[in-house]
Amino acid sequence: MLPEKYKAISDEQAILKIRHLKALLGKDVFILGHHYQRDEVIQFADATGDSLGLSQEAAKINSKYIVFCGVKFMAETADIVTADNQKVILPDLAAGCPMADMANEYQIQKAWDEIAQVVADISNVVPVTYVNSAATVKAFCGENGGLTCTSSNAGKVLDWAFNQGKQVFFFPDRYLGTNTAMRLGLKDKEIVLWNREEDFGGLSPEKIKTAKIITWDGYCPVHKRFESANLDLLREKYPDLRVIVHPEVPESLAIQADEIGSTSYIIKVVSEAPDGSIFAVGTEAHLVSRLAKEYPNKRILSLNVPTCMCATMERISPQNLLWILESLAEGKVENQIIVPKNIKEKALIAINSMFELS
Ligand code: 13P
Ligand code: SF4
Repeated sequence: MLPEKYKAISDEQAILKIRHLKALLGKDVFILGHHYQRDEVIQFADATGDSLGLSQEAAKINSKYIVFCGVKFMAETADIVTADNQKVILPDLAAGCPMADMANEYQIQKAWDEIAQVVADISNVVPVTYVNSAATVKAFCGENGGLTCTSSNAGKVLDWAFNQGKQVFFFPDRYLGTNTAMRLGLKDKEIVLWNREEDFGGLSPEKIKTAKIITWDGYCPVHKRFESANLDLLREKYPDLRVIVHPEVPESLAIQADEIGSTSYIIKVVSEAPDGSIFAVGTEAHLVSRLAKEYPNKRILSLNVPTCMCATMERISPQNLLWILESLAEGKVENQIIVPKNIKEKALIAINSMFELS
């Protein structure tokens, strides 16, 4: 936990000290920053990215310490893909992801056993976990012929499974699973929702057998709040509006969007659009406000007012980052994320399979 003395430090003071410490620590420390981080923090990132980009970056870094300004599943992924002598640090251990917490390995194993009782051959079902999941859930996929995916490669991963005639068991995000499957042309009846509170997901054996994708009923509380009602109002006001959303939004909104993609994709589309373009963006507030600041000649609006902020991403403050760097300068490693070896090995199989497809 952040020691008391750091709480009295202002953002401005912390920023000055971080600048100094970064120069002092040099190449020993590499800071990774997710696009949802606050401006005061992300300015110190040596690399920024979406979940896929950051995991690929982590796999390439040689630094002794990797400070992950993001949430826990991202830091765990970094620990899984880095060498044993590298240490991954999360500046606030309470920076989790509520969606990732909606599925644990016991629930997934129970559901898997139930699906196995119904389908003719469980080896024809591929378990796919969104990277927004615990390392133990990724390990389950690695152990059972499955893999991970992110918002930027979910289409490729599902396509790969469907092309082999496999069924997909997808978790934890119902919307990423459904939106991706719909974009691949699946029909409504081929996509079924697994209710984690009920035996056999509350589904009939027929539904389980005939589904092409069974999606867990988890969701991101931040993206779930985006509504299509706001979209109608904005389209009326701005006829040239382009709507771009993250695939974690509900499908009722996703089907009305002009573009859908990961945080890096959203940034790319906005940055490449001509001056004067007007966008309504359906993703986390820090990213939307950064885009608005960086592209003053374009109009960047949030699809929802008030904007939807990820409170756990927000937990990484300049004060937390300062504490971590000051400790490293004193030879102390705080908040290290350690994935146990047996979990790491299995989870790595699932992550590497995704890397191969990306
Ligand atoms: P990206 O991989 O698109 O950055 O998404 C991560 C995330 O947590 C979105 O809520
Ligand atoms: Fe998790 Fe949603 Fe926050 Fe992304 S925005 S880290 S999915 S809670």
